[in-house]
Amino acid sequence: MAFRNCGFAVFTLLSILILSYSQVFAGRELVGGRIKPSSSPFSSALEILQKQIGYTFKNIGLLRRAMTHSSFSEENNKALSILGSSVIDTSVSLHSLAKDIDMSPKELNRLIAEISKVETSCAGDGMQLGLQKVVRVSPKTNSSMPSVVCGAFRAIFGAIAIDTGKSDDAETVFWSVHGGKVGKALSM
Ligand SMILES: *[C@@H]1O[C@H](CO)[C@@H](O)[C@H](O)[C@H]1NC(C)=O
Repeated sequence: MAFRNCGFAVFTLLSILILSYSQVFAGRELVGGRIKPSSSPFSSALEILQKQIGYTFKNIGLLRRAMTHSSFSEENNKALSILGSSVIDTSVSLHSLAKDIDMSPKELNRLIAEISKVETSCAGDGMQLGLQKVVRVSPKTNSSMPSVVCGAFRAIFGAIAIDTGKSDDAETVFWSVHGGKVGKALSM
C-alpha cells in the first residue's frame, strides 16, 4: 500500500516536472516567434524609418501602429494621427512665435493651415520619407493616396509623443524632418 502511494507520488511529481518544463519550452518558442518578425520587410522598413527621422522608439509597437492604415487592421494609426496633427500645430506655433513674438494671429493661423494641408505639405513630407512604401494598407487601398501618406506621417509624431509621454521630442523630430520649411514660408 505504502509502496503504491509512493509510486503515485513519484508519478505525480514527474508529471508536474514534465508539464512545467514543456511550458517553459513553449514560452521560449513564443519569444522566438516574436523575434522572427524583426527580419520581415516591414520591420526592416521601420528600422530604416527610425534612422531617417533620427528617433529610436522604446516601444517599436507604436511605430508599427503608426504605419498601419485603418483599411489594414483595427489596430491602426487613426487616433495617433490626430495627436500627431496637434503636435505639428504646436511645433509650428512655437517656432514661429519664438522667431517673431509680434507675428499677427492671422499670419500664425495661415502658417498652421499651410502645414495642415493634406495634398501639399503633409503628404509631401510623408512621400519624402517614402511612407507610401512602408505603410500597411489593404490590397484594395492605394498607399500613395495623399490621405494615407498624410495620416501615416502625422501618426509618427503622435507615436513619439506616446513613446516619451510628452510632446517635446515629437515636436523637435517634426521640425527636423520638415526641415524648417515653415520658416522659409515666413520670409516669403
Ligand atoms: C495611387 O494614388 C496616386 C496618388 O493619388 C496616383 O498617382 C496613382 O496613380 C494611384 N495608383 C493607382 C494604381 O491607382
